[in-house]
Amino acid sequence: MTRVLVSGATGKLGAPIAAALADADDLTLAGRVARSLTGQDGFSTVAEALAATQADVLLDVTSPAVGEAHTLTAIAAGLPVVLGTTGLDKAGEERIHAAAIAADVPVLYVPNFAITAVLMMRFAAEAAKVLDQCAIVEEHNPAKVDRPSGTALRTADLVEAASGTRPEISSIRIEGVVANQSVIFGAGAQTLELRNVTLSREAFVPGALLALRRVAALTPGLHVGLEQILD
Ligand SMILES: NC(=O)c1ccc[n+]([C@@H]2O[C@H](COP(=O)([O-])OP(=O)(O)OC[C@H]3O[C@@H](n4cnc5c(N)ncnc54)[C@H](OP(=O)(O)O)[C@@H]3O)[C@@H](O)[C@H]2O)c1
Repeated sequence: MTRVLVSGATGKLGAPIAAALADADDLTLAGRVARSLTGQDGFSTVAEALAATQADVLLDVTSPAVGEAHTLTAIAAGLPVVLGTTGLDKAGEERIHAAAIAADVPVLYVPNFAITAVLMMRFAAEAAKVLDQCAIVEEHNPAKVDRPSGTALRTADLVEAASGTRPEISSIRIEGVVANQSVIFGAGAQTLELRNVTLSREAFVPGALLALRRVAALTPGLHVGLEQILD
């Protein structure tokens, strides 16, 4: 049984993941972290929770302002981490990788837990080998803090690696949307559009559980993307 500490457990993403742990046979909730849980059935900081619980892995789904700090705290305690909080920049990735190597701990940063989004990125990388004109349009709710989205940046990285050209990213923030993205390729008199639509945050739960099951088997250091453990 893998014991999971969920940081951001009261959030729109953390709450359904914490609830799904109760139904899993091989995963269990070790503790919940959120500032609003102070004095209730949970912890206000990751450090406090690590000291008081027996956890095997940390899931962080909080905010770009604190996701890196929470990850570094867990690494220092020797705990594998699934980081689902978006907005981590390259410098942050390097700091986490260095700390994880030093502590001999695996960390999986997953900008998008939706399996359909991971397939969209994979297919985009494949198309970019042939089609060098590409643009990305990402759509999210206005509450999303980071812009462009982590998924758009990751897709741009993959397309650039395959084609040598970095695609332009357009970000739209509009009520009613959870998380959508189109990757549009153009060539002479033809276009190809790959579109991922997320209808609710339940779409992120299966990928998050898969990441929690498999992160400990990864090599020490930072790994990026659900595709690292999908196959
Ligand atoms: N990887 C993916 O597939 C995916 C999908 C959707 C969203 N996300 C990302 O996941 C993150 C959370 O999104 P959300 O929509 O769930 O946000 P949300 O509804 O605002 O929830 C944020 C959670 O983090 C907690 N939190 C915030 N700051 C904290 C701090 N300093 N210390 C402890 N807990 C803190 C909040 O509780 P308190 O305010 O009580 O502290 C709350 O439980 C964002 O970065 C978002 O972009 C990722």
